[in-house]
Amino acid sequence: MCGIVGILSTEPVALDLVDALRRLEYRGYDSAGIATVENGHLGRRRAEGKLRNLESRLASEPLNGHIGIGHTRWATHGRPIERNAHPHMTPRVSVVHNGIIENFRELREELTAAGHVFETETDTETVVHLITDQMDKGAGPIDAVKSALKRLHGAFALAIIFAGEDNLMMAARLGSPLVVGHGEGRMFLGSDAIALAPFTDTVTYLEEGDFAVLRNDGVEIFDRDENPAQRVPIKSQANALLVDKGNHRHFMAKEIHEQPEVISHTLAHYLDMAEGRIHLPDIGIDLSSVPRVTISACGTAYYAGLVAKYWIERYARVPVEIDIASELRYREAPLPQGGLAIFVSQSGETADTLATLRYCKEQGQRIAAVVNVRTSTIARESDVVLPTLAGPEIGVASTKAFTCQLTALACFTLALGRARGTIDEATERTLVKELMEVPRQIADQLFDETQYEHLAHLLAKSNDVLYLGRGISFPLAMEGALKLKEISYLHAEGYAAGELKHGPIALIDEKVPVIIVAPRDGLFEKTISNMQEVAARGGQIVMISNALDDDVGCPLTAHIRMPDAHDFTNPIIYAVPIQLIAYHTAVQMGTDVDQPRNLAKSVTVE
Ligand code: G6P
Repeated sequence: MCGIVGILSTEPVALDLVDALRRLEYRGYDSAGIATVENGHLGRRRAEGKLRNLESRLASEPLNGHIGIGHTRWATHGRPIERNAHPHMTPRVSVVHNGIIENFRELREELTAAGHVFETETDTETVVHLITDQMDKGAGPIDAVKSALKRLHGAFALAIIFAGEDNLMMAARLGSPLVVGHGEGRMFLGSDAIALAPFTDTVTYLEEGDFAVLRNDGVEIFDRDENPAQRVPIKSQANALLVDKGNHRHFMAKEIHEQPEVISHTLAHYLDMAEGRIHLPDIGIDLSSVPRVTISACGTAYYAGLVAKYWIERYARVPVEIDIASELRYREAPLPQGGLAIFVSQSGETADTLATLRYCKEQGQRIAAVVNVRTSTIARESDVVLPTLAGPEIGVASTKAFTCQLTALACFTLALGRARGTIDEATERTLVKELMEVPRQIADQLFDETQYEHLAHLLAKSNDVLYLGRGISFPLAMEGALKLKEISYLHAEGYAAGELKHGPIALIDEKVPVIIVAPRDGLFEKTISNMQEVAARGGQIVMISNALDDDVGCPLTAHIRMPDAHDFTNPIIYAVPIQLIAYHTAVQMGTDVDQPRNLAKSVTVE
């Protein structure tokens, strides 16, 4: 998760770029750099470490251009050294980038074969060469960027400047945030409105797939199909708040939309993306000899743990015991010597989770914590912290913290499987590649939420909603039901699809919507049979699946179409429609989405 900025002005911009970057340092600070166009030529300064190193560099070697871009880096592809620091450039083009270019290896090979010489280990440099390649072939800067964007797979935000162009900057976003700032004869670009707060409070948020052409006096924005797009400038609250809602109505919506970015950030902590391998920081535990894993947590974090049980048992072949913390702490469960206990918590302060951690410690377990707040009590009392890098989560209903927990636990599963020899190198590479595709697959789902608004009308009229899932989709069914009841106050139940006939089937009639989480995996056919049992009783079926309608053989009230993904990453991707269903239903019902009644974000009582 890097931070990017851009400024077009009629005065030198270097110092203002640094000022904006300072407000983005929370997004990463292993190196920083800026580039400007001066007398028609691109010039850049970069420095390892904190921003003050870049400042000293600029003091001795100033840049005087009136247009420039800047970057503060949190390394993903390539070590945190000056050579890998942004901006990246050729004599024609300079680029700053936040996100992941998934297909950078293929592009790099293609461009190298065409004679381009790469200087860095980064994925970003492929963007620079793609654009340069087009310009070498005669394309103007705007067309060169447009054709380069078509070649990129991944989740990204980009700012681009060109030699010989002191009044043209281009920007693009897919999955990573980007905001345009409007000044008097000056224009700005930033990863968030907070970066631009000293310069302007009038901002326009780019939407997924947008690209923009900025000049001193304004901006033209185009959608993913290259049609001109109307994006309405708004007054930013960034000056007053440390975190703001951006152009979203609720923090929950903003946090759902942040997922491509924060999942990338979490992945970057656990993967060597350039190598396509797992790279778990040394956790000081011999994973090859762990006899059993115990997982405990509360609420949404518990469901993340339940998904991990399926992953760990299947891929690492280690038995997993899991229980909600308020039960496990009093169960007097016997735990094996040398066992590993994992606690999952966004806040790291949940009283029951903490008490269970202490119980497991007394029972001789090694303690690992998947936490979002690294300074929390649970983090401090653990032997090992597996951080989620979700950033502050304000909405009480957990969304981005959940998918980041899943991401960290997926990476941990790979490390455990590798250590135990149940995952070979080829499988590791395949699954790492699949994980790297998740941010884009989620960004794709966030383009259009109209179907969720329609669905919300149906759900808002019901009294009970049933969620069904099988295998690794079962925890998601329970998370879906929890999310819906938390924020819309509708009664919802999550059930294992195969258990339907043992009770909940009695509830089904034409007034009960049944939401079925059904990726086309090895259990799909079984889930379809359960769906038909619902259809036979007149239930209204909402299917979340990558299957075709024809595969189902019964009428569907709605079908939320999912991308084809690997069984391994499906739980992370399928979490998103579940969140959007709950969110839009709550909006439809007019409840307090971010602070639902009776709930608290951090539960420090028993
Ligand atoms: C509360 C929150 C939930 C959360 C649970 C566990 O109930 O409302 O969203 O999942 O606590 O919180 P933790 O901070 O431990 O993840």
